[in-house]
Amino acid sequence: MPCILLTGATGYIASHTWLALLEAGWDVVGIDNFCNSSPRVLERLAELSGRVPSFVEGDVRDAQSLDRAFALGQQRWGGVQAVVHFAALKAVGESTEKPLEYFANNIGGLVATCQALQRHTAADQPLRMVFSSSATVYGKPEQLPIREDAPLSATNPYGATKLMGEQILAELQRCDARWLIASLRYFNPVGAHPSGRIGEDPRGVPNNLMPYVAQVAVGQRERLNVFGQDYDTPDGTGVRDYIHICDLADGHVAALRHLFEQGRSLTVNLGTGRGYSVLEVARAYEKASGREVPLHFAPRRPGDVDACYADPTLAAQALGWRARRDIDDMCADSWRWQSQNPRGFNG
Ligand SMILES: NC(=O)c1ccc[n+]([C@@H]2O[C@H](COP(=O)([O-])OP(=O)(O)OC[C@H]3O[C@@H](n4cnc5c(N)ncnc54)[C@H](O)[C@@H]3O)[C@@H](O)[C@H]2O)c1
Repeated sequence: MPCILLTGATGYIASHTWLALLEAGWDVVGIDNFCNSSPRVLERLAELSGRVPSFVEGDVRDAQSLDRAFALGQQRWGGVQAVVHFAALKAVGESTEKPLEYFANNIGGLVATCQALQRHTAADQPLRMVFSSSATVYGKPEQLPIREDAPLSATNPYGATKLMGEQILAELQRCDARWLIASLRYFNPVGAHPSGRIGEDPRGVPNNLMPYVAQVAVGQRERLNVFGQDYDTPDGTGVRDYIHICDLADGHVAALRHLFEQGRSLTVNLGTGRGYSVLEVARAYEKASGREVPLHFAPRRPGDVDACYADPTLAAQALGWRARRDIDDMCADSWRWQSQNPRGFNG
């Protein structure tokens, strides 16, 4: 089986994808600078897979670090045959305070990774790259569910880096037919591996709903702030398309298979197609955890939309992939991770 290089390899989505790839029989090399993850992830991956992870600590903006990762792939598995580029900074609020850091890291890192892939691929071989894009590229969606041909826009610097990332990769393809690109537009990944050994470990106050709810349920935070209860949704709270992290990981395996077997690029939504409101998530979490999640209603946050969910048809048709796990699975697996690791990878 081919060897895949994962950038941002010890992060939340990459660590679950790493396991899914190993389970599907692929070989994996990882690179990460730990700017938003813990080296302990590697110990957990070893424990879960029974294999010592092939890993290089380094920054993807640094050509030499990337060269070391490709060399490790060459030495262990005869060469890297595709890259999944997860490495990025991802906090929307922070991106408006430090836009240049986001451009330098997310755009600079993508370009350096593409250059390294090109450097380490023979001239007659395809350049296969999977890119972590996001539903944020749809800006404020005009129509629901969101199809891949919906209008695109960026509402903050983070979103701009995802939109620009897709554009850079599309230009590469136009200039050189060897590039095979899968741009995956993730909706809202949540939950954890069912073992409870790896999961999302946000630093500081969580930016996303489910890790926040998890910290309330485990007693680290007093209550859940619900921003807005007058949205145009059945219960007035915002509706989003949450996708179980293991379904998302399987989506990467399917996208890589598509690049290897079909030899065609694609841009595709990875979501369930079903939205859940903030109140529905809080109730499902109470059920999964047996703990109360006290609520505090607060005004809307600027920029938030009523509802956002994917049309997952293209993913089913092109990749033969669809999400299988429901909100109860998402909450049960999140709770197992949170209750067994209340301080994340630090305890
Ligand atoms: N989690 C989400 O809600 C979500 C939604 C849509 C898209 N995405 C995208 O998916 C990707 C992975 O997200 P995640 O949630 O796993 O985030 P994460 O922060 O857990 O993982 C990103 C990893 O990249 C590493 N990293 C960042 N910059 C790096 C650099 N210059 N060199 C080496 N490593 C670097 C970090 O240390 C971290 O381990 C990101 O590109 C993110 O923008 C995430």
